Amino acid sequence: MNWEELQQACQNCTRCGLCETRKNVVFGVGNRNADILFIGEGPGEQEDLQGQPFVGPAGKLLDDMLSIIDLDRKANCYIANIVKCRPPHNRDPLETEQDACIDFLREQIGLIQPKIIVCLGRIAAMRLIRPDYRITKEHGQWAQLDGIWTTAIYHPSALLRDVTKRPETFTDLLSIRDKIREINAQV
Ligand code: URA
Repeated sequence: MNWEELQQACQNCTRCGLCETRKNVVFGVGNRNADILFIGEGPGEQEDLQGQPFVGPAGKLLDDMLSIIDLDRKANCYIANIVKCRPPHNRDPLETEQDACIDFLREQIGLIQPKIIVCLGRIAAMRLIRPDYRITKEHGQWAQLDGIWTTAIYHPSALLRDVTKRPETFTDLLSIRDKIREINAQV
């Protein structure tokens, strides 16, 4: 699929029950040629209303986090989610909903061909890195998955709820910046 076909397939998707309550499909945003892809769990209320990922309070914090390491959603990264439609009342996306949606994300990854993937929070890490991933213990660690350097950091919503996690996340952000530099130095 090319970008247009993929976007159309997502717009028309009825693979799971979330299509019945969504206002908008939240496809993803950013530079389609970016080296780095950030993946959250699923749209919240604001995202569902606006059709854009991370536009609520967590999104504001994510933009601030990105700017610390010279990233900007409009310029040099791409942002997507494990599921493209809002789970009601912001509950975690069900395994069945993730299963229904994950191929769309895999197609996006295939088109972007990122060199780095950053999972935002536990849900994305458990889906993309390992089902028993422990974000509290393993955040900031790197693994190469299908040739793509992959890590996870705390979800911005978790950082809004618990500011004591922020210093560790700052360290993880610097590690992401270092990984970008390392990769750029190789080309
Ligand atoms: N939380 C997410 O995981 N994704 C969004 O797009 C917004 C909030």
